[in-house]
Amino acid sequence: MIGVFDSGLGGLSVLAAIARALPHADLAYLADTAHVPYGDKHDDFIRGRVLAIGRHLVERGCRMLVVACNTATAHAVTELRHQHPGIPVVGVEPGVKPAAQSTQSGHIAVLATEATARSERLRHLIRSHASRVAVHVQPCPGWATRVETLHLDGAEFAADIRARVLPLLDAGVDRIVLGCTHYAFLIPVLEPLVHGRAELVDVADAVARQVVRLGGERAGSAKLHLLATARPERLHAALPALGLGWLAARASGADLVTP
Ligand code: DGL
Repeated sequence: MIGVFDSGLGGLSVLAAIARALPHADLAYLADTAHVPYGDKHDDFIRGRVLAIGRHLVERGCRMLVVACNTATAHAVTELRHQHPGIPVVGVEPGVKPAAQSTQSGHIAVLATEATARSERLRHLIRSHASRVAVHVQPCPGWATRVETLHLDGAEFAADIRARVLPLLDAGVDRIVLGCTHYAFLIPVLEPLVHGRAELVDVADAVARQVVRLGGERAGSAKLHLLATARPERLHAALPALGLGWLAARASGADLVTP
């Protein structure tokens, strides 16, 4: 079983990519809904949650872990790997490299949570892969919570998105990296805004390819175990609302867990 986790619903975008790449694999998805969002929390708190959830998933029988959260990866993937040396751990990092390689204008942007935006790991990623382009890091407080509550429309939110994205386009950005897994569910809102001026870069499919490369199970009974630390029924109900009804059909419900 492959264990995939996030603070909430965002990692479902990664889970869906893994389920498409490995249609028979048994998957567990844990949403830390009692503590979402991670983006405004302290680094130590995020690290504590990631290690507790990793331990919980391994105890449930997961033989691979996918940290389907940029914020959690930035602050804790190294410790998680140390804690489980025998288990492949796949993290999710903003697609700075593909954006830097494909930009024509030499300006790329990263939309991320506050915790990812301030992380040393993002600075390192930029130094390693984008030293020859201008990188505009744009924190987007509140966006993950919007996705969490499934309130993706509304004039105020639309105005906030415009206020954060239009200045990037005006600065010449032609690649916008979705540096938070929740933001994949904002593509229908973001795409019309950037159309013709910039491309959105999401790494969910690249993460799924990495899971396959590291030996993610091909055989299995295609079961999906949904787990949440608060209001598990919301997790199951959110799947169709996020366009993932086909995944909901694989799960018989969702369980409350307290790692
Ligand atoms: N989905 C997460 C990420 O990729 C975290 C969002 C949040 O909880 O603030 O960064």
